[in-house]
Amino acid sequence: STLILGQTFETWGNPLTRPWEEVARIRSGGGVLVQNGVIAAVGDGAALRRDHPNVAVTDYGDALISPGFIDAHVHYPQTAMIASWGKRLIDWLNIYTFPEEMRLADPAYAARIADRYLDLALDHGTTTMSSFATIHPGSVDAFFDAALSRGLRAVTGKTCMDRNAPDGLRDTAQSAYDDSRALIARWQGRGRLGYAITPRFSPTSTPDQLEALGALWAEYPDCLMQTHLSEQTDEIAWVRDLFPQARDYLDTYEAHGLLGARGVYGHAIHLEPREVDRLAEVGAAVVHCPTSNTFIGSGLMDLAALAARGIPAGLATDTGGGSSFSMLRTMAAAYEIGQLRGTPLHAAHLMYLATAGSARSLHLQDCIGTLAPGMEADLVVLNLASTPAIAQRSAEARDVWEQVFATLMMGDDRAVKDVWIAGQRRVAARQGRVSRR
Ligand code: GUN
Ligand code: ZN
Repeated sequence: STLILGQTFETWGNPLTRPWEEVARIRSGGGVLVQNGVIAAVGDGAALRRDHPNVAVTDYGDALISPGFIDAHVHYPQTAMIASWGKRLIDWLNIYTFPEEMRLADPAYAARIADRYLDLALDHGTTTMSSFATIHPGSVDAFFDAALSRGLRAVTGKTCMDRNAPDGLRDTAQSAYDDSRALIARWQGRGRLGYAITPRFSPTSTPDQLEALGALWAEYPDCLMQTHLSEQTDEIAWVRDLFPQARDYLDTYEAHGLLGARGVYGHAIHLEPREVDRLAEVGAAVVHCPTSNTFIGSGLMDLAALAARGIPAGLATDTGGGSSFSMLRTMAAAYEIGQLRGTPLHAAHLMYLATAGSARSLHLQDCIGTLAPGMEADLVVLNLASTPAIAQRSAEARDVWEQVFATLMMGDDRAVKDVWIAGQRRVAARQGRVSRR
């Protein structure tokens, strides 16, 4: 066992539906006692030290100990084409995304990208993610193998597409069902891994494929189901043409058994009132992807309004539609979009979204996302003065929340002082990063 000392970020409720002061705090001089990869106690650091005199101690001083960041929607196969210029969603997919995803037909390339992506994610303090793979079952194996070897809690699924995608990047309704089913049998619940049934989005699935995946979800109701919903207005118009009977975009999923409490719907920007009502009624989760929504020009999600309806909300990079691997940068973008919508988010809201909120959206709130006894010890330790610009602002701060806010707005991977995975301190992959700190 080990005792980790620093300032601890603690939440015990949803600050988007209750005053944040009642459900979140930062404890200075805090401590996290870890035993067998699990948090055994959280509290006053000095008291924990006195009560457990024989445990190893790692003292981070004034650094902030947070649950590891949880990226609720990402495309690991898009790692190498992040920050591609000048296109909106449909052209961006056709011109940049699909050609890159085609390359993951090669299992060796898929393994290389999975390793690269997970090392980048960990460098940025992200310890769990729900990723889309590609249509290739080998891309799921590559990701899960890479997550397993790092001891990570992670989710992915074979991305299913049987129309409106190029040759070589389409499956069929039957093969999507069969391949997904075989992958569930191989991976679901193995180690810390979870499978998400993953129709990419309605435009790239025939009604037959959506129906087949709805049937699969009914057979494996413990699996998550992840997809995209109402990201761009052009996309929504296209969905209307492709599904003339559907009442709205969400109905294309609902009509085929793909709306449920374990459904995770990325973007959810341009929603009709009926769609919001149905998401709230079934308890489905939405995922805010703010850097993606500005980068691809999608729009301003009304996160506060959806959260106020009790809809669970996570936060995500949506790499490579999103322009960053950093959940800090993502929190900054969420703040900026909140400002444009007239709903500024406090640092407590942003930190909640990146940790417990994302965990809740993925139904992992009993395993990760909070510092509390019984939770798996995945941690990110943040230096709150990681650059001269942040340090000078932090020095002027009136309280610790103001310090944290400066790091959320201006921080990047340089703020990530350390990462713990299931109670194990991550060995920094690059020596240069270590000596710089
Ligand atoms: N909609 C369908 N596929 C994608 C994708 O890969 N990225 C984003 N941002 N939106 C999508
Ligand atoms: Zn996406």
